Amino acid sequence: MNILEDNLTNYLKPEYVFKTISSEANKLNQQVYVIGGFVRDKILNRTSKDIDIVTLGSGIHLAKKISQKQKTSSLKIFKNFGTAMVMIGDLEVQFIGARKESYHSGSRNPIVENGTIEEDQNRRDFTINALAISLNKDTYGNFIDPFNGLKDLENQVIVTPLDPNITFSDDPLRMMRAIRFSSQLNFKINKSTFEAIIKNSERIKIVAQERITEELNKIILSNHPSTGFKLLEKSGLLKIIFPEFQVLKGVEIINGKGHKDNFYHTLQVLDNLLPHSIGNLWLRWAAILHDIAKPITKKYNNLQGWTFHGHEDKGARMVPSIFRKLKLPLDEKMKYVQKLVMLHLRPISLTNKSITDSALRRLLFDAGDDLEDLMKLCQSDITSKNKEKKIKYLKRFEVVKKKLKGVEDRDRIKNWQPPINGKEIMDIFKIQPCKEVGVLKDLIKNAILDGVIKNDYNQAKKYLFIKAKELGINEK
Ligand code: CTP
Repeated sequence: MNILEDNLTNYLKPEYVFKTISSEANKLNQQVYVIGGFVRDKILNRTSKDIDIVTLGSGIHLAKKISQKQKTSSLKIFKNFGTAMVMIGDLEVQFIGARKESYHSGSRNPIVENGTIEEDQNRRDFTINALAISLNKDTYGNFIDPFNGLKDLENQVIVTPLDPNITFSDDPLRMMRAIRFSSQLNFKINKSTFEAIIKNSERIKIVAQERITEELNKIILSNHPSTGFKLLEKSGLLKIIFPEFQVLKGVEIINGKGHKDNFYHTLQVLDNLLPHSIGNLWLRWAAILHDIAKPITKKYNNLQGWTFHGHEDKGARMVPSIFRKLKLPLDEKMKYVQKLVMLHLRPISLTNKSITDSALRRLLFDAGDDLEDLMKLCQSDITSKNKEKKIKYLKRFEVVKKKLKGVEDRDRIKNWQPPINGKEIMDIFKIQPCKEVGVLKDLIKNAILDGVIKNDYNQAKKYLFIKAKELGINEK
């Protein structure tokens, strides 16, 4: 072990940082506490890189002193908010003066005044987030726990320190946070706290979409996202923030025949997918959206019962508008989700008939590098309650997986591009970009995928001339 390196890593440890803060605050004669998420996570044995420091006095002044004292740190000051942040290694240490706040209805922006540590704890969202530890010299390490946050941590409950109607009305984002913490920590929400969420749910409308979506994404990435969605639904928040998901809920019955409840089915798919999608937000979004168009494609006829024809295509087309509304990125991540929604029936459909190489090649080509994720999604989509049926489907699914691997090993289709591209077609026939270029390109691609011609440049060119002639296009 290199002694210098060892020393350096010590400087970056929270325990060392706390000692420095304690001694600098003492010199300034300022009381100081570590508070909120870091304390909560420390007790729960979760690692946290965000440290919130509250001081009775200027947070900015104290932050400047710490930054001068602490090696390898950088300081950022947010004058408008009266706060400062010191980055120490990968620790993000926020400094803030103790505050008391009062709010006006209609706005999330509080009127802020200096306060005591108790007043600062009062204004926090939940008792488990209002715990503080003293960093003052004479009481170093003591808990300040006026709302029994430690007990609530032990009992695994989320409850507000004040009347929940005040806490949620002050900052309605906290309703989403309650459900997020419940999904992340697997904690129950206290009864009257949850009733206040139901009562105040409409106030979520004053919160910026980005903040709502940030919490929603944290719920989706948590270990218990289906718990989160059930709470969102029960509280009335879901129909406001994500109505497309809400309308999946419910079962219609005609002539005694009902379809499955697509809300609970989707949550089941999400749960099945959990171990295969840790940290993969977009795969989980694909699961959430895979059946999103079922309500608008739903039809009943006496012969087939309930059908949802084209829901994969319609669903894929709904993805951009949902992403736009939720302020999710409209980039390749959205395209990935769209692709998985579009293709989610394909692997399953292959289990129903004798599989041709051509169908396998098509799936490999269409899914490309996302094939593995598509297969994870589709496998999770097998939710039949009939055990025997489920085992049968899963067995067939394994066969499809094996065959896909066999064809990919042989033909290398996943990242394959047809041997002749659009530009070459335009050069050969001296034509401008037009519909026919696309038609010819697809004909070559399909002929190779269907095994009509080999994946070979000369064969493709010969085939191109035949098809161009049929379309009335001649070489010039
Ligand atoms: N807080 C609050 N109301 C909010 C946001 C935050 O009372 N709407 C308080 C809580 O005391 C919280 C602290 O500010 O613990 C820090 O907030 P934040 O960093 O957003 O959350 P954490 O609790 O640290 O949790 P995480 O890091 O998982 O987001």
